[in-house]
Amino acid sequence: MGCVVPRRPGALGYRPAAAGGRSLAAEGAFSGVVLEAGCGTGENALHLASLGLSVVGVDVAETALAIAREKAAARGLDVEFTPADAFALERLGRRFDTVLDCGLFHTFDESERPRYVASLASVIEHGGALYLLCFSDDGPETGPHPVSEDELRTAFHGWNVVAVERDRLQTRFHDDGVSAWVATIRRIEREIR
Ligand SMILES: C[S@@+](CC[C@H](N)C(=O)[O-])C[C@H]1O[C@@H](n2cnc3c(N)ncnc32)[C@H](O)[C@@H]1O
Repeated sequence: MGCVVPRRPGALGYRPAAAGGRSLAAEGAFSGVVLEAGCGTGENALHLASLGLSVVGVDVAETALAIAREKAAARGLDVEFTPADAFALERLGRRFDTVLDCGLFHTFDESERPRYVASLASVIEHGGALYLLCFSDDGPETGPHPVSEDELRTAFHGWNVVAVERDRLQTRFHDDGVSAWVATIRRIEREIR
């Protein structure tokens, strides 16, 4: 899985696939001010910042955020790492052009997803993009809490699900990675009355 980080191991066990994997960042997917929901120790957010993007990383884990801030300082990168609950992103009082979720959505069960999706809607600009990378149920070896394409599309009913593509997501426990989805989802433009 390309995720957004080309080589560096992901913060909490997620890391991109071997060389040649997709990189959303290299494809120019990210623009404007970017939010990473569930940023962990910040590798994705830091990578995006290294490309010149303005990035905010949020997580509930203060210890992970502290590590992310240390990394940012060590690398001379300006990223805002701030505590926030993904279920209450509206409390940030801000809007973002692009949001990244790498490994967060699939930790929520079906009953929690509507709340998370509503929370995302509160911070993504109309027409803004969400890139969501999660374990998929499509393949012989799946990660924990795999998500089906139908479940993904159902969760984002009312949004523009532009693409749900097969990819691989490596973890500490799966050297060759496991099946994943990389979804490109847009918040629909405001209705013109
Ligand atoms: C699997 S890690 C992924 C970290 C990072 N995105 C990466 O790709 O390496 C999931 C992260 O989501 C965070 N998380 C879980 N529930 C959360 C919530 N309700 N609000 C914000 N962050 C949450 C966890 O603390 C953890 O850092």
